[in-house]
Amino acid sequence: MTTPTTPHVNKYRSKISGSNDERLTTEVFERNKKPISKALFPYLDKITGDALEIGSGTGQHLSYLAKNFPHIIWHGTDIDEVHCKSIDAWAKFNSLNLPHALALDAASDWSSVLKEYDSFNVIISMNVIHISPISTLEGIFLNSARFIKNDGILVFYGPFKKGNKHTGEGNKIFDQRLRSENSTWGVRCISTLERLAADNKFDSPEVIEMPANNYLLVFKKSD
Ligand SMILES: C[S@@+](CC[C@H](N)C(=O)[O-])C[C@H]1O[C@@H](n2cnc3c(N)ncnc32)[C@H](O)[C@@H]1O
Repeated sequence: MTTPTTPHVNKYRSKISGSNDERLTTEVFERNKKPISKALFPYLDKITGDALEIGSGTGQHLSYLAKNFPHIIWHGTDIDEVHCKSIDAWAKFNSLNLPHALALDAASDWSSVLKEYDSFNVIISMNVIHISPISTLEGIFLNSARFIKNDGILVFYGPFKKGNKHTGEGNKIFDQRLRSENSTWGVRCISTLERLAADNKFDSPEVIEMPANNYLLVFKKSD
């Protein structure tokens, strides 16, 4: 399933140390790990059980969240098997006893990959849905409706448009660059996620402003 779908895939290829080290890195992680963890605290502090990350990339966020919220079992996934190896390598480096990362295409039916799992308390996807076709976002909502517990949360982090307008000049330029690289990518509008949420029986999101014109969107299942 190795599908290099993003420009970030190649950026991540720079390995940290020797050739046997499968950890990949991204500078952005260092900048946003603390704000994300802090914003998630009110939600994750109360939750026990299992969290599934979609598009974990290098796996640095997964390890960081697992260290900060050890009462949750963190499951990493990515469409790219090289990233899955990095996710596992970071967990090992951090002495975290996490389940092996799963090769999962978020746009597909997750049932066969997640056949050993019943449901999750948290499903989270950070910086994925703008660097992937809209089918990835649709797949996340559709599958989350099946795989999230009734009182669970579905979380997205990244840049978003509001009322179909960019929230900053940097995001506008970023969106243009994404679309010129692949016409199916692009910064999504919060209203698109609200529509998909309603279609899949999730409530309207809590919208949390984050540094550098990013947002954290938290959806709960509708009663
Ligand atoms: C920009 S990276 C973000 C990685 C990580 N979440 C972070 O914030 O550092 C996007 C990730 O999404 C993954 N991805 C892209 N399309 C995907 C899909 N359809 N299913 C699962 N993962 C996907 C890529 O392989 C890549 O690892």
